[in-house]
Order: sequence, then structure tokens, then C-alpha cells
Amino acid sequence: METKIISVVGEKGGIGKTTLNIILASDLFYAKGKKVVLLDLDDPQYSIYNKRQRELESLDEEERQSIELYPIEPVTVATLQDTIVKHYGRVDYIILDLPGSLNVEMVKGLLYVEHVFVPFDHDELEIDSTSHFYFTLKNNFLDNEERMLKSIHLFFNKYKLVKKSKFAVLRQQFLEADIPMMESVVKDKTIYKERYRNTLYPIPQHKELGEKDIKHFFKEVAQLTR
Ligand SMILES: Nc1ncnc2c1ncn2[C@@H]1O[C@H](COP(=O)(O)OP(=O)(O)O)[C@@H](O)[C@H]1O
Ligand SMILES: [Mg+2]
Repeated sequence: METKIISVVGEKGGIGKTTLNIILASDLFYAKGKKVVLLDLDDPQYSIYNKRQRELESLDEEERQSIELYPIEPVTVATLQDTIVKHYGRVDYIILDLPGSLNVEMVKGLLYVEHVFVPFDHDELEIDSTSHFYFTLKNNFLDNEERMLKSIHLFFNKYKLVKKSKFAVLRQQFLEADIPMMESVVKDKTIYKERYRNTLYPIPQHKELGEKDIKHFFKEVAQLTR
């Protein structure tokens, strides 16, 4: 089985990396039937791993027995390589959730990732740091034959329709700077941070019908990692 190693990463906290790694993993596994493993490298918080434990506790015994789950494993820089080797070739996707700074966890994690997706929103400082982050990744990982990284894609998270024209201007600026922007966006929606940031089921299809809805993001991720 061909395994792809992907990650929603960025240099800042609070921009949606963890949320989107979970939503992506749940969509790939529950909605698309892919084999997925989600590795939580956000040592020592392990927020995804702990979230899964809490979600399991909210089920009754019968539900817990019957539900099919993708594995979520907490890993450290010391166990990452062995964990990847253990799953490589046995799953369609290994998804890594990394911490939000260029620390040893992130750098070590980035040694294995093939496709990264970098979220950002319209805040101006964030844009400066995001393009700086992009070029750091490009120079050190993408343009380095010894690294695994094959592609980097930026996208808007917490996209607001009311700020459509502002986002459009930014998109243009990034394209002119030769920074690859995804077509699709992820909207700012409360359901993404509450109900549907869930490791036990995907976002229901009927919730996602609009032109800017997250199903387009899923589709584009699938295309870009093909
Ligand atoms: N598209 C979105 N719409 C609404 N809230 C979001 C969205 N993406 C992320 N959030 C919220 O932003 C906050 C930070 O997200 P999180 O995934 O923890 O970021 P990070 O892992 O980058 O630190 C959380 O409260 C999360 O629910
Ligand atoms: Mg996080």
C-alpha cells in the first residue's frame, strides 16, 4: 500500500493546525474509507490523543465495542521514526500534528512529511510570518534532495465571506510572490471547533453544500497528494 505522509503545519499557535488535522483524518477515514493513522507530536499536551480518550469516555460500552476507529498515537522525537516505520506501507495516510513553533519536534517531524498544508488568515503580521515560514520550509526542506518534502500549499483558514475582497487581494499578493495558494478555503465556522472537530465521525455530507465549503478543501488535498 502506498502511504502518504501529510501534515497541516504552521509556525503559529491558534491558526487551526490541530483542528484541520483532525477534520482531515476523520474525513479520510470515515467518509472516504482510507486507512489513516494520526500521530500527535504535540508533546507534552497531546491534545488530540487526550481528546480521543475523552470522546471514547462519552460513549457507552456497546458503542465503544462497535465503533471503528483510526489510531491516534502520541509520539516523541525519540519514537517518531519507529512509529512511522511501523505504519508505513500499511495505511493510506499518516497525518502528523506538530507543535506550533520551529522547535525540535517540528523540525524532526518535517523530516518525514511529504506534503504540508499551511493555514493562515488575513491578519497582516500573520501573513509576513507565514511567507517567511514558507520560504524557510522551501529552502531547507523542499529544495533539499535529502528531504522527503515534495510540496507545500498555503490556504486560508477561518475564511470569512464578509472579507472576501480582502482575502482576494491577499491571494493575488501571494501568487505574485510565487507562493502556492490552494484554491479552496476553510471557512470560519463554529461547528468546526465544536461538534465536527471530532475523532469519532466525519462532518455530515448534508452540512457541506456551498461553493466554499470544506468538501472542496478535502478534494483539493486529495488531488495534491495523489
Ligand atoms: N475554520 C475554523 N473555524 C472556526 N474555528 C476554528 C477554525 N479553525 C480553527 N478554529 C479554532 O481556532 C482555535 C485554534 O485552533 P487549533 O486547531 O488548536 O490551532 P493550532 O493547532 O494551530 O494551535 C481553536 O479554538 C479552534 O477551534
Ligand atoms: Mg495544535
